[in-house]
Amino acid sequence: MPQPAVSPVAKPIIVTDPIAIREQVRAAQARGRRVGFVPTMGALHEGHTSLVDRAACECDDVAVSIFVNPTQFGPSEDFSRYPRSLESDIAAVAERGARWVFAPEAESIYPPGWATRVEVEGPARRFEGEIRPGHFSGVATVVCRLLLAVPADEAYFGAKDWQQTLVIRRMVRDLGVPTGITVCPTVREPDGLAMSSRNAYLTAAERSRACGLFESLRLAEQGWLAGETVAVIERAMAHHLAERGVTVDYAAIVDRDTLDPLTDETSPAVALVAGRLGMTRLIDNILLPLRR
Ligand code: PAF
Repeated sequence: MPQPAVSPVAKPIIVTDPIAIREQVRAAQARGRRVGFVPTMGALHEGHTSLVDRAACECDDVAVSIFVNPTQFGPSEDFSRYPRSLESDIAAVAERGARWVFAPEAESIYPPGWATRVEVEGPARRFEGEIRPGHFSGVATVVCRLLLAVPADEAYFGAKDWQQTLVIRRMVRDLGVPTGITVCPTVREPDGLAMSSRNAYLTAAERSRACGLFESLRLAEQGWLAGETVAVIERAMAHHLAERGVTVDYAAIVDRDTLDPLTDETSPAVALVAGRLGMTRLIDNILLPLRR
């Protein structure tokens, strides 16, 4: 019996050498192709594949990098146990039509004798910047290095790491990196938990309490729409997280572009939360509707 025609999934080209990927991207651009780039640390989930889908919609060719960046982990953080799943990650991005997977060795990103870091101030100072010293310097350094290797027209990042997107935008602007930055919506599980590679660390009991982060953001939105003060809403968020057994690092409403305290409650605002369930640290945020 004739089989239905199924178009085979084209395998992405796997490149490990930064010079080789740069040449291939430049050659595609010279042929008039717009190149999109999705930097990742692997352990891909639907949040990542939604970025690849967006890049594929807006660009002719898509590159995805998979590199667990050591410099953005603190000494007591989870670098060594961070999930690594290169084969299934390659299969996932192949299905979404990525043209290249850039999977460099650490030595080609940080060559022997490496001595250069990119330090961002401003939006990197508070929240994750205070709790994870050196983290944003590691992120800015590797993203700068990756954008030199993959000189894409547009790079795509998830809004779940809102502060990271502000740091990357600032780095790209301040250093004149000629790649546009697109921030895409957070992808959530049915109960609201933001997709994250670190969700895999949660025990069943922790997983059932992890939606407390999103619930506290929903509470913030309701309070915000009801006209409550920032202080009252922040207390309610922290209280809800604690009730859900989340050890709170912060629960805050701040200016969404600078992360400074709001001086005017009609400015665009973001609600940010971070906390720990057992050994696992999770973060989340939502952009609050404009107040008139
Ligand atoms: O968001 C991430 O996965 C990482 O911080 C990034 C941007 C790929 C840099 O390592």
